[in-house]
Amino acid sequence: MYNFDKKIARADTASVKYDMREEIFGKADVLPMWVADMDFETPECIRKAVLERAAHPIYGYSIMTDAYFDAFMEWVNRRHDWKIQKEWIVFSPGIVTAINAAVFAFTEPGDSVIVQPPVYFPFFDAVKNNGRKQLANQLLYLDNTYKIDFDDLTKKAKEARLILLSSPHNPVSRCWSEDELKRIGKICLENDVLILSDEIHADLTLPGYKHIPMASLSPELAEVTITCMAPSKTFNVAGLFTSQIVIKNTSLREKFKKSMDTFHLIHGNIFGMIASEAGYRHGDAWLDALRAYLLRNFNLVDQFFKSELPQLTLVKPEATFLAWIDYSKTGISDKKMQKKMVEEASLGLNPGRIFGSGGSSFMRMNLGTPRSVVLEALERMKCIRF
Ligand SMILES: Cc1ncc(COP(=O)(O)O)c(C=O)c1O
Repeated sequence: MYNFDKKIARADTASVKYDMREEIFGKADVLPMWVADMDFETPECIRKAVLERAAHPIYGYSIMTDAYFDAFMEWVNRRHDWKIQKEWIVFSPGIVTAINAAVFAFTEPGDSVIVQPPVYFPFFDAVKNNGRKQLANQLLYLDNTYKIDFDDLTKKAKEARLILLSSPHNPVSRCWSEDELKRIGKICLENDVLILSDEIHADLTLPGYKHIPMASLSPELAEVTITCMAPSKTFNVAGLFTSQIVIKNTSLREKFKKSMDTFHLIHGNIFGMIASEAGYRHGDAWLDALRAYLLRNFNLVDQFFKSELPQLTLVKPEATFLAWIDYSKTGISDKKMQKKMVEEASLGLNPGRIFGSGGSSFMRMNLGTPRSVVLEALERMKCIRF
């Protein structure tokens, strides 16, 4: 019913992933499996809605409609069992924008902010660029998966004001369990630490895993959590810059809004809103088919490594379309591995070290692409002299 196998030419479409290859990798023809958008068609329901609106000849200032908010609230209830109210939702163009605004709004210069590396690198920038102090609660890599060091988190929470949580986690592909989230939540509540829960990958759990919004776990957690959600990864519409930040607590919400308003970031674009509403209303079946397809891509990589490239290990995937690959067995340095990937295999992957401590000896490979492309990438890897 949905053709995720279809290859679509994306070069020369002003695409970061394709049209910045020369700048990032020094080679314009690498197979791009880096920046986190997918090579699949955006669902038809979204394209149709956007085209219908585009047919109207005027693209003037727009408002965020009730229909858009309703579609999002119903989606969150339907997919994540979380009942929210319209007043709690604040628009943000992007999630990184919202993270920066939250660090600015909820902490003072010199305050400590917890991050859990290896993690999506703009978390580090949001702390640093705002002149805050970063406290790293290093994730523990054990038995091919990642765990939280709760003893260390308890210590760090005593001096922190905010934690930036990636849930599900990019790049290690963990879908945090209810127990883990409750333990994080308890530590934060006991130490007056606010939680920014970046749930941009919430909809992209692999079959068998269920995302739980941190704020849905208890009324107390709802009061201290800033939840970031968006259709951008879910429906492959990242270029439309439309996200929803859910903040139940009125005073936190007002503070956040004020910091967004300082730079006049509270207005969306008409196409982002139309696309979001259509996806949230009609995108369930497409998304479930996508999740099943992604699982098969992960399985393909896992099987290939086991049978053809035993020097590489796929970290157990639970969510996102991003594979986290351990190459420590090769003994090759990060710099050399990146060089080999680009020069010997013509592959453009993210080096793990950009995700902070614990990222060395790993690379991140974007599997949001047709199976034939994944296979092509794996065959190219096989040609590398490890
Ligand atoms: C965890 C996480 N947060 C935020 C983003 C980007 O969000 P936005 O493009 O809305 O700023 C990404 C994109 O890869 C991500 O993985």
